[in-house]
Amino acid sequence: PPFFSRNDAGDLQIEQVSAAEIVERFDSPTYVYSRAAIESAFNALTAAFGERAHRICYAVKANSNIGILNVLARLGAGFDIVSYGELARVMAAGGDPGKTVFSGVGKSADEIRGALEAGIGCLNVESEAELQQIADIAAEMQQSAPISLRVNPDVDARTHPYISTGLKDNKFGIAIDEALPLYEWAHAHPALEVTGIDCHIGSQLTDVSPFRDAAERVMKLAHRLAERGIELKHLDLGGGLGIRYTDETPPAAADWIEAIRSVVDADPLARELPIWIEPGRFIAGPAGALLTRVEYLKPGEHKSFAIVDAAMNDLMRPALYGSDMAIVPAGQGDGERHPGTWEIVGPICETGDFLGHERPLDLAAGDLLAVLGAGAYGFSMASNYNTRPRAAEVLVDGRAIHEIRRREPLDSLWALEQLPAAD
Ligand code: LLP
Repeated sequence: PPFFSRNDAGDLQIEQVSAAEIVERFDSPTYVYSRAAIESAFNALTAAFGERAHRICYAVKANSNIGILNVLARLGAGFDIVSYGELARVMAAGGDPGKTVFSGVGKSADEIRGALEAGIGCLNVESEAELQQIADIAAEMQQSAPISLRVNPDVDARTHPYISTGLKDNKFGIAIDEALPLYEWAHAHPALEVTGIDCHIGSQLTDVSPFRDAAERVMKLAHRLAERGIELKHLDLGGGLGIRYTDETPPAAADWIEAIRSVVDADPLARELPIWIEPGRFIAGPAGALLTRVEYLKPGEHKSFAIVDAAMNDLMRPALYGSDMAIVPAGQGDGERHPGTWEIVGPICETGDFLGHERPLDLAAGDLLAVLGAGAYGFSMASNYNTRPRAAEVLVDGRAIHEIRRREPLDSLWALEQLPAAD
């Protein structure tokens, strides 16, 4: 059954719960997620690996609600984190730090120490200076730190420049041609245990060929390491599989995994090596929608604005990347209906505060709308700009509704602030 559908009244349903019911109970704006959709995406990846050794490390940054992490932990997922905070969330959600990889260009000494104390599965190292730092900390803790070098394979992911990470001009990773001496150094260091190679070339990729190119370059490096007696225990090929927001035609899970396997499994050196991947968007994105209510209609000669109660602070992707996200009717209000072409905008005092441009919709004040594909990089990028409490988050599971984050109470927004002492 589809995870998002229409009921007899024509209203949006998430699994077996209507959008109207969610908003009645939790008000708007509210993020709603389908548990079955999350599980289905995860299971599609698992199925594509079949019997082959692998690990799916869900990229926590895509959606870091502990309710979502818990659903994935129960499926046996590993995690990809980029801060100690995300690791703490994984642990709070019942995830296994031993199945967790720590990525990111700027891990602080405290974060490295905390991750080693927690028994992190692997640190994905992004520079020579960071490698030295990890070695020093591990030595001081009398521990051996499991590491991969995140190499930058210099392939063009052909995605938005802000989310492309595998070109040599990007800040990420170690140039693949410079990795060898660092691997030799790490291999010889008593406080480091070289376990793998890692790469991640970008996000929202809609073509498999950059994945294949990257895997080929990683395999070349694996061979040069093997010649020097450096044996790997896994290959981490990152995340980045795109999803359909409007009219994209991203590859299916099976196509992505097949593209990687066509390179890795063809190579006797790597046939038995576990493949790790770090998908975020593919798992969480399609599972979530942002429900919002139309507050006012403001028709104009040139442009007509539908002012909704969600804004760029709730969902930043349209404002930040110009992302085109589908906005669909989710429930009808009582007001007079106005078919037209609408700018869907929020209440924030910025011209860039929009969720969608030029949307052909038949609208009335009080209508509910849903921004689809909002499960990834939606709530996790939300802010309190304009002192707007962050939205509630709800997980639907069949007929069951779980509030996995309540709407922020207003006074919590300044709970950490103080008036200056009187003089
Ligand atoms: N691994 C690493 C090292 C990453 O940097 C990322 C995402 C992922 C995995 C997961 O990528 P995914 O499978 O989700 O594409 N805020 C942007 C996306 C930023 C992605 C950053 N890195 C957006 O809303 O489009």
